[in-house]
Amino acid sequence: MLIDGHGRTVNYLRISVTERCNFRCQYCMPEKPFSWVPRENLLSFEELFSFVRVAIDEGVDKIRITGGEPLLREDLDRFVQMIHDHKPDIDLALTTNGYLLADVAERLKEVGLKRINISIDSLKPEVAAKIAQKDVLDKVLAGVEKALEVGLKVKVNMVPLKGINDDEIVDVMEYAKARGMTIRYIEYMENVHAKVGLKGLSGKEILERVKEKYVIKKVGREGSSPAFNYLTDDGYKFGVIDPHKHDFCESCNRIRLTAEGFLIPCLYFDEAMSIRDAVKAGDIEGASEVLREVLRNKPEKNRWDEENGEESTRAFYETGG
Ligand code: GTP
Ligand code: 5AD
Ligand code: SF4
Repeated sequence: MLIDGHGRTVNYLRISVTERCNFRCQYCMPEKPFSWVPRENLLSFEELFSFVRVAIDEGVDKIRITGGEPLLREDLDRFVQMIHDHKPDIDLALTTNGYLLADVAERLKEVGLKRINISIDSLKPEVAAKIAQKDVLDKVLAGVEKALEVGLKVKVNMVPLKGINDDEIVDVMEYAKARGMTIRYIEYMENVHAKVGLKGLSGKEILERVKEKYVIKKVGREGSSPAFNYLTDDGYKFGVIDPHKHDFCESCNRIRLTAEGFLIPCLYFDEAMSIRDAVKAGDIEGASEVLREVLRNKPEKNRWDEENGEESTRAFYETGG
């Protein structure tokens, strides 16, 4: 079992397989051109898996593959299969923008993927295009339909932004509800890469919009999920992720691995340690030691209102949210 320096059990590993993305979401990517990490700096699937195996053998039972956009990484199904074959009962999930999903959903399901979380910020083509800075909606929705058709469990993430998509909070819920998908609204997390002047809705404001249509009641948090759940009067469960509070930190169960091999103990914590040299040298013992050290140093809570002030400097496209 993996226990951190604050006594929390860590059983959830999020792996960002690339920081590249085919979208430029206003809340995530810089407007100015910037350069990606050179491809040769990325760890191969074999190298990533040599660490994943250590993590699984030491107690990780939930893995989420993220990005950037993870489906940009060629042959991602190979990586999914490696993980699944090592531990078939693992909770194996993917977070994607959905753009490339329709063509690969079936294959991913075949090789062991169980769940997908997809961002849908708008159901209006022009608004979706404004947020992602690309015409994306048709392909994303086709990806959702295909994922459902092949039997993947799908959750929807929406980031409500003032004056942009905040009039669609209920509409996106209705879309998700009609297809048996859970929706989670995520408060916009300020960061230095996002478009200047962007304003998110608070969890409270998001709930106000839902209450215009439904009477809602609190359900609470499930396990270590960052989402606080609610139930509408017609029995639909949805969640709000409110990272500006620290209350999910006390049950935090996760660490993050980037494509370059950095182990990141918390989304809002700039320190990281690398397993890169260890896995490149085939030094499994060394990788395991780095993992333990990262766990010892995992902070008690995120740093929204401490040293970093209001904004996070770490790029979400690097760490996968
Ligand atoms: P489930 O396994 O379906 O519960 O997924 P998840 O919520 O772990 O994954 P997803 O990638 O859909 O994450 C949703 C969002 O929640 C992330 O993109 C972040 O914005 C936020 N989030 C997830 N984990 C953390 C965390 O440890 N700290 C903070 N502050 N926010 C997080
Ligand atoms: N604030 C809130 N959510 C964000 N995401 C990416 N950047 C941000 C941000 N700045 C969300 C995406 C995706 C999830 C992985 O993270 O919408 O659903
Ligand atoms: Fe890409 Fe996701 Fe960032 Fe949008 S939020 S630019 S889809 S990494």
